[in-house]
Amino acid sequence: MAKRTRGRTVLSPSLLSADFGNLADAVRAVEKAGAGAIHLDVMDGHFVPNLTIGPPVVKAVDRISALPLDVHLMIEEPDRYLEAFRESGADWISVHVEAVHHLHRTVARIRQLGASPGVVLNPATPLSTLEEILEEVDFVLLMSVNPGFGGQAFIPSALAKVAALRKILSRRGLKARIEVDGGVDAGNAADLVRAGADILVAGNAVFGKGDPVTNARDLIRRMREAEG
Ligand code: DX5
Ligand code: ZN
Repeated sequence: MAKRTRGRTVLSPSLLSADFGNLADAVRAVEKAGAGAIHLDVMDGHFVPNLTIGPPVVKAVDRISALPLDVHLMIEEPDRYLEAFRESGADWISVHVEAVHHLHRTVARIRQLGASPGVVLNPATPLSTLEEILEEVDFVLLMSVNPGFGGQAFIPSALAKVAALRKILSRRGLKARIEVDGGVDAGNAADLVRAGADILVAGNAVFGKGDPVTNARDLIRRMREAEG
């Protein structure tokens, strides 16, 4: 089993809630606060009912940040775009199990391109869908809202799902990290880390109101304190 030491957790702020006219400021703020990655939400208006960004924006963020770019693909047929996102600077690429027909092939392709592969589960998608792919991925992203929009309320059952996945990974001796996305805030960050989450995404809690540096620092402090 992977040794779990202090400092294992990472905050990956989602730029979805940032001011798109001042992305450079948002990136600088979260870098200053100590974020470990930057989460970029790609939506196509089909898999989810919203449209956001594509490779050009990922590339622009890559030019201004040294942090790993955590690219969450909420799109149909993600295979068509893997190369474009990788070329734009995506370091971690995650695809939804609900959107992919040949998951093993897609995950292998992401790794072959030199990125870290992750798979994402919507709130109603059971952990059993991961059984045959867990050994192939670097991380599992558990959605704690139905994807599509920032600023939604955390679905409480996600907490037990994180704990159950942590148990499965430990039992099988696998090193995949657990990422949680949706409605993460100062009220649930510590609980999520205690349940076994390694990476927390936060959009609204960082960029919604107040100072993003202070908000991100507060979340990181709560995460560190909850590490076991
Ligand atoms: C939701 C996105 C999330 C979202 C998180 O579909 O995948 O990454 O931006 O935003 P908050 O933290 O505001 O729920
Ligand atoms: Zn996301």
